[in-house]
Amino acid sequence: MTNNQRLTEVYDAEQFRAIGKELIDVLANHLGNLQSQETKTVYPNNAPEDELQFWENDFKQHSDPIQTLTTLLNRSQQTQHPKYMGHQTAVPAPISALTGLVTDLVNNSTGVYEMGPVSNAMERVVTDFTAKKIGYGEQASGLMTSGGSLANLTALLAARKDKAPQNVWEEGHNEKLAVLVSEEAHYCIDRAARILGLGDNGIIKVPVDENFKIRTDLLPHYLKKAKEKGLHVFCIIGCAGSTATGSYDDLEALAKFSTENNIWLHVDGAHGGAVVFSEKYKRLTQGMEKADSVVIDFHKMLMTPVLSTALLFKQGNKIYRTFAQRAQYLWDSPETEEWYNSAKRTFECSKPFLSAKVYLILKTHGSDIFEKNVDQLYDSAQLLSQLIQAKPEFELVHEPQSNIVNFRYIPNANMNGAELNELNGQIRKQLIASGKFYIVQTTINNKRTLRCSIMNPLTSKNDFLELLDEIEKLAFSIRGTASVLA
Ligand SMILES: Cc1ncc(COP(=O)(O)O)c(C=O)c1O
Repeated sequence: MTNNQRLTEVYDAEQFRAIGKELIDVLANHLGNLQSQETKTVYPNNAPEDELQFWENDFKQHSDPIQTLTTLLNRSQQTQHPKYMGHQTAVPAPISALTGLVTDLVNNSTGVYEMGPVSNAMERVVTDFTAKKIGYGEQASGLMTSGGSLANLTALLAARKDKAPQNVWEEGHNEKLAVLVSEEAHYCIDRAARILGLGDNGIIKVPVDENFKIRTDLLPHYLKKAKEKGLHVFCIIGCAGSTATGSYDDLEALAKFSTENNIWLHVDGAHGGAVVFSEKYKRLTQGMEKADSVVIDFHKMLMTPVLSTALLFKQGNKIYRTFAQRAQYLWDSPETEEWYNSAKRTFECSKPFLSAKVYLILKTHGSDIFEKNVDQLYDSAQLLSQLIQAKPEFELVHEPQSNIVNFRYIPNANMNGAELNELNGQIRKQLIASGKFYIVQTTINNKRTLRCSIMNPLTSKNDFLELLDEIEKLAFSIRGTASVLA
């Protein structure tokens, strides 16, 4: 075959149709089998080196795309399985996967209007819709970014531009800058602050209370100490909610403090900001509408595949100055505020079509579908915590404020902390090795906990009961074989 024939074959519409039709059947069967639990394995639990070897071998062999894609499906973590209760990754609405097919094929890259007319307009619709849910007014606007980490970095850049005494963007650092943040904040905040050049001294971690919320009573003290060290605090970051425990900071108190001290308030709602869509749970983010900026990931509790994040600003115009730069090849007038040229406001130049999946989920299933999902996930977490509390050998580590439940198995009151940590670690290891469930673990106040994020709205009470049963059985067998844990 000539080069030309080979390239023509790559783009052959009929071949695309044939593979596509077959693939949709494969995907629908896969989804159905997961939902009915005919497929038992949630997580295949292959060791990294074995997985690598598998794909290295596969790469050398001939197979048709359907075979390869089916293998990819089967060897992956099955977030669509009702017994997936692991990391905070969305269980995507299937319509979003179909949308991805379309946006990948048109491949409009969003940064400039002419390369993403629909993408930029849909992004505006989705971010305006979200800004309203936050309770922002007419001045608000937002943009979408590839993930919460990048969105948090972008928000801190905007905060620095607005509140720092010098123009670091143009002049570099000549004053020591700092941010105030809860010690429970996601690690990407620490990274973002370091990228901004703040260093250890510029990241002031404020302790949390017994509910893992930032101690707002300590803020004046920490601000005073920062000033004494010659630091200028330009931003305070609130968690809504935190990653380990899903705890929501008191945003009203943070807003009051930030206004009184002329500090930018940024709220990291990557995970729990989703409650703005819920009448029942939006009380958790009371005060969010006073924040200067807010991040909400659609790819966590809002049914959208990774990555899809909204970054919203109370005063939408503030973001335009953040990346002020000449890029003549992209736009004629760098100074003007043009919502339809996304790259003026983001770090990304080529940017995926991030809004279409969110837009299609809302249009297909109703603009209240996010509310239904959040309510279901949060109610389910309450149910799981009640089931845990009803069992004497289980300990609920904290009241869940969100869809995150941390608990431990404590069969014997005489076991010490190290033994309990070992036992609970073993339980999780063997649980995921069995493939029957996928949950994670974390450490809270030196206690290793079993951690479930209820992400799948199809996870039922039966699944929870089976999980607790399985943990009991595993603990029994572990204790039977390890005398130290008996
Ligand atoms: C509270 C919080 N902020 C930020 C992030 C990072 O977001 P992303 O994974 O979208 O970059 C996470 C991720 O789990 C998170 O839980």
